[in-house]
Amino acid sequence: MQKILVARPIFPDVIERLKQHFEVDWNNGEVLSAEELTRRLADKDGALTAGDPVGAAVLAAAPRLRVVSNMAVGYNNFDMAAFNASNVLGTNTPDVLNESTADFGWALMMAAARRVTESEHWLRAGKWQKWAYDGFLGTDVYGSTLGVIGMGRIGQALARRARGFNMQVIYHNRSRVAPEIEAELNAQYVSKTELLKRADHVVLVLPYTKDNHHTIGAAELAQMKPTATLTNIARGGIVDDAALAEALRAKRIAAAGLDVYEGEPNLNPALLTVPNVVLTPHIASATESTRRAMANLAADNLIAALGEGPNAGRPANPINPDVIGKARA
Ligand code: DGY
Repeated sequence: MQKILVARPIFPDVIERLKQHFEVDWNNGEVLSAEELTRRLADKDGALTAGDPVGAAVLAAAPRLRVVSNMAVGYNNFDMAAFNASNVLGTNTPDVLNESTADFGWALMMAAARRVTESEHWLRAGKWQKWAYDGFLGTDVYGSTLGVIGMGRIGQALARRARGFNMQVIYHNRSRVAPEIEAELNAQYVSKTELLKRADHVVLVLPYTKDNHHTIGAAELAQMKPTATLTNIARGGIVDDAALAEALRAKRIAAAGLDVYEGEPNLNPALLTVPNVVLTPHIASATESTRRAMANLAADNLIAALGEGPNAGRPANPINPDVIGKARA
């Protein structure tokens, strides 16, 4: 039987499915250190990860490893150059999380614009004495302009929600999406600068790459309207969190909604001191059904990539399909 490591706690029934095909080493505890991950992968043929960093050193120490299946659509935890050099396949879990993640992005944007958590904290602190005409004035969402940076599948799902809010949709992306998608979403392609200047609500849905590092920093925040909100459901590192905390403190933008952070689960302490930011712990895809779908898809990819099950040799979501069928280097 081939051996696999499941590096994180996941649904026990998915572990049972994997046990039908493999000898499973399951880390059902704390996140593994780099050393521990390396040690436990040394004799494995495959692995299921969820954000665990896998780079050249880990791959070099695991000579049998042929596939690492990430339970996430984002795979910036994989060093894909190292995967390609070693002929190790990486897989991810796209699509199944689109709607849940877009729902959550919408919720964060709404909460930031309408100061939902900020006013709740104030209420819980016993500060509500009387109704006030100017209490927690926010920014309208209905009829406003949505700016989506990263018009992939989740960005498109988010833009689709804007129709019900009578919003104008502008977007920026590495390249324009197909004309029929632009037409369906009634979305206009603009430069990043134009988007930042025009949007009432900027939502980030782009993958993290080193080129996207600090896509939003002090200069970009300075281009936004003082009444605008910024929502990040993409990845930490896309926003310069220190610059954002300062912009929020100085009210250079009205508010922000953040689900992801540079260096998470640690976050820039300055973010904790500004009231006009909604902070959540990387849960945009966290509904029962979506997390189940992600876990099952990650398991399916692993099973197929290791030549088991009905799709043996044909995993549905290869990141680097060119290595399929090549001997481990
Ligand atoms: C993803 O799938 O990339 C989500 O951010 C969960 O990590």
